[in-house]
Amino acid sequence: MTAQLIDGTALSQQLRAEVAQRTLALKARGITPGLAVVLVGDDPASQVYVRNKVKACHEAGLHSVLEKYDANMSEAALLARVEALNKDPAIHGILVQLPLPAQIDAHKVIEAIAPAKDVDGFHVASAGALVTGLPGFWPCTPYGCMKMLASIGYELKGKHAVVIGRSNTVGKPMALMLLQKNATVTICHSGTANLKAMTLQADVVVAAVGKRNVLTADMVKPGAVVIDVGMNRDDHGKLCGDADFAGVREVAGWITPVPGGVGPMTITMLLVNTLEAAERIAN
Ligand code: GUN
Repeated sequence: MTAQLIDGTALSQQLRAEVAQRTLALKARGITPGLAVVLVGDDPASQVYVRNKVKACHEAGLHSVLEKYDANMSEAALLARVEALNKDPAIHGILVQLPLPAQIDAHKVIEAIAPAKDVDGFHVASAGALVTGLPGFWPCTPYGCMKMLASIGYELKGKHAVVIGRSNTVGKPMALMLLQKNATVTICHSGTANLKAMTLQADVVVAAVGKRNVLTADMVKPGAVVIDVGMNRDDHGKLCGDADFAGVREVAGWITPVPGGVGPMTITMLLVNTLEAAERIAN
């Protein structure tokens, strides 16, 4: 059996077209959704990420500003910028790109963002909303994974989902989202005694470790859905995920490729969250 691909590029295009439509409708009511992206320092990967975020906003008709600051910016100065953006009526979403330089406490900065503008979903208020099932912003990457599962009409109720990885940005929120859709959820991590024994029981595996070949064909139940959040480089410098794609695709029922899987969905859900932040103000 060769797995069917869940095409994140195609799904992103469809969702971004919907965002563009809803943005037009909101603009007709005099509100342009606006995202502020704040970058401190000159990390090359972060520079690419923030450029892509701003570009995606413009393509979908959203207003977007990129604020770039020197790597030696003080924590106080960044907190003051966040405060100003909290008060700026043209800005509905604030994203402070991580990682931040060592002199800045990232937790402090994230907690300074108004929860109503926390389109990254990283604020404790957003995390608490997800835990309790209250409305709030969901972190973009796991939210995108949920949209990918929905796109194939996958019913999670009664299924066993295994999440590999327990980060605050992907693994933990992913597990909570799957739980909210009535899956039985196991979270595995570096301290898990027998990962293979867990993944072999899984109807859905989400690999979110950031390490090549964490998931190999012998670890996957035939027909399972594999969502690969990893973004790694292979020996030839080619982008690859956490799963051994060539092997796993021969066992799984569905699999997300890397590139072209979860990657494009993260920015797409950032657009969705920013639009929703503006719609909440409008309503
Ligand atoms: N750095 C890498 N990914 C992200 C993200 O999704 N949001 C923020 N704020 N920083 C990041």
